[in-house]
Amino acid sequence: MSYYQRHLFVCLNQRANGEACCADHDAQAAFDHCKSRVKDLGLAGKGGVRVNKAGCLDRCAGGPVAVVYPEAVWYSWVDKGDLDEIVESHLRDGRVVERLVLPDSVGR
Ligand code: FES
Repeated sequence: MSYYQRHLFVCLNQRANGEACCADHDAQAAFDHCKSRVKDLGLAGKGGVRVNKAGCLDRCAGGPVAVVYPEAVWYSWVDKGDLDEIVESHLRDGRVVERLVLPDSVGR
């Protein structure tokens, strides 16, 4: 059994050169929101869920992006309601939120 049941990595990368980056899509606020929801739902910690900051995950064109392991499911979102759905449906209940899954064709 792994230390965490699920791990969410949220890209917070900021680029100064004008290229697409997740920080331009309010990724820090999304990270803070997920972290707080996971804690409020009692999911945080050993045997539960960990929410981590990530640098560029090289899928910037789909920003903001995050990935959930161990399922290796990639997401993008529009608002906090979408983030709540990812936290409650996937991180808590293990059900992938298909409508928010980042298509495989999206890269940098
Ligand atoms: S800046 Fe977020 S994936 Fe590259």
